Amino acid sequence: MFDGTYSIRTHTAAEVTAACIDQQVTLAGWVGKRRDHGGLIFVDLRDRSGIIQLRIDPEQSGEAFALGEQIRPEWVLAVTGVVKARPADAVNPNIPTGDVEVIVDTLTVLNRAKTPPFEIEDGIETDEAVRLRWRYLDIRRPEVTRILELRSRVTAAFRNALGERGFLEIETPILTKATPEGARDFIVPARLAPGKFYALPQSPQLFKQLTMIAGLERYYQIARCFRDEDLRADRQPEFTQVDVEMSFVTQEDVMQLAEDVMVEVMRTVDYELPTPLRRISYADALDTYGSDRPDTRFDLKLVDCSDIFGASAFKVFASAIASGGVVKAIKAPGAGDWARSRYDALGKLAVDAGAKGMAWIAFTAAGEVKSPIVKFFSDEEMAQLRERLDIHEGDLVVFGADQRDVANEVLGVVRLALADQLELPREGFDPLWVVDFPLFLKDKETGRWTANHHPFTRPFDEDLDKLTDDPGSVLSYSYDLVLNGYEVGGGTLRIHDEDLQLRVLAELGHDEAAARGQFGFLLDALSYGAPPHGGIALGLDRLVMILAGLDSIRDVIAFPKTSSGSDLMTAAPAPVTDRALRDLHIRVD
Ligand code: AMO
Ligand code: AMP
Repeated sequence: MFDGTYSIRTHTAAEVTAACIDQQVTLAGWVGKRRDHGGLIFVDLRDRSGIIQLRIDPEQSGEAFALGEQIRPEWVLAVTGVVKARPADAVNPNIPTGDVEVIVDTLTVLNRAKTPPFEIEDGIETDEAVRLRWRYLDIRRPEVTRILELRSRVTAAFRNALGERGFLEIETPILTKATPEGARDFIVPARLAPGKFYALPQSPQLFKQLTMIAGLERYYQIARCFRDEDLRADRQPEFTQVDVEMSFVTQEDVMQLAEDVMVEVMRTVDYELPTPLRRISYADALDTYGSDRPDTRFDLKLVDCSDIFGASAFKVFASAIASGGVVKAIKAPGAGDWARSRYDALGKLAVDAGAKGMAWIAFTAAGEVKSPIVKFFSDEEMAQLRERLDIHEGDLVVFGADQRDVANEVLGVVRLALADQLELPREGFDPLWVVDFPLFLKDKETGRWTANHHPFTRPFDEDLDKLTDDPGSVLSYSYDLVLNGYEVGGGTLRIHDEDLQLRVLAELGHDEAAARGQFGFLLDALSYGAPPHGGIALGLDRLVMILAGLDSIRDVIAFPKTSSGSDLMTAAPAPVTDRALRDLHIRVD
């Protein structure tokens, strides 16, 4: 077995512990800190496993000492020496090798290094752009190395768990045709077919369905996906899914499989996932948390107060209800004594999220009620509100009065801001399933129906007769895995019937000719004995980010892109030569 050493070294740094005292070892690694103690040189030698202190003493080896005086940070060394206990006052309890050091006999410089643009150590404040420009140096920092190690362990845990359960790891094409997952495609010009393009897959969705039609029954892939969309802290243009598909299964089977696999994966961070995970319907998630990926580690629930304000003298509320909308509120304990400017700032956030305004009432600790709107409330309304929300001194109440979906969405945004500002504890893991998604959502701009997950999602059997007349009310076999306010996975059962697939595509605005033009290969395959099937895809980057306690997926990707989609190290994307463009029959404006 490969134990981390080859012929150049006998041990890795971390292996050099008190158990090795008086042994001779040969190590190789990078120079970290170097301290000159008049006549003695101490060097922190770093390799992937950790750090070990070298003691270079001219009395031990004049030659090694002469080299030791020249070496600089990030030079690459091989050293041989004997392991000794450090003097008691020199023990470093912060590192596993802190009670020993290696007394150097021979020192070989394997390579020199320029002065790095930032310190190769944990906890540096260096700008991310600088770190990404020299990402290979950034990765040398132990805290970054540890994250990539965690990612590797998580990936291995997925492979083990799925392999043990009979899943085949299958690769699907990267140069392919558009797969609609709701983003824009990255396209690649095809030199051999001028004027034609491949699309990079937004996910392997259609191919994994085809593996089911091909009879493979259990598929998985650690799949790279490409989506040209606006980037955020939890979104990259290329990211990785643990993509899974199964035949002859119900929704329960897929969810059970995902839970079983997640139990094993979470053990990589010594967390015992309590299963079965709780579930909430899409409608309830929106109504209670204003989000279909609720962070349930804190309360701040949305409470419907519509029945209290139907006949209110406060016209904003009364008219919202009269036009079929709702009045909803969030109570934020501890925010009742904030400066007015903070309520105004929250209100601005609400307006940016689509609200017409954000009414608020502050119940101060001293028992006052401050608000621009209570003057319109009757005593009865106020009493009911106090009872409904169980109001205490020190509470803030904010309101959203609008159509239900708008009020929910706005208050969902305000809820997260309140949690941030109140610094509510958000520790641990709180996973849950969100289920029963509607099949379609209405596009706000075009008014057209769009697929909530993707167009291959199977509607509830009992809702099939509403497909044409009331598409908005059709629910689907679908499930999102939500962890700490992030969507870490999502899946559905699929349509396995050609006619039903055509009906759903028709609702989405593709007549039969268009549907066959774009998805002919799938429709064709569905007509050759497609088994009932379904699956799920877990966002590996997001999951590792959460397990590592980080809040940007860039931190868990070896070579990530910035929020404008560029790679600061290679300077991609970059222009290509005229010759390359000519070959592709492309002219750039
Ligand atoms: P979906 O689009 O929900 O489903 O993607 C599955 C999971 O992938 C992660 N994810 C992302 N992670 C980082 N950057 C992105 N830009 C990004 N987009 C998505 C999320 C998400 O939950 N084919 C379906 C799955 C299926 O139906 O089986 C799909 O791709 O964690
Ligand atoms: P106005 O009557 O427009 O001056 O609004 C009075 C208060 O109600 C202000 O604090 C507004 O921010 C708030 N407000 C206005 N419209 C809404 C709404 N749709 N939902 C909640 N609060 C609102």
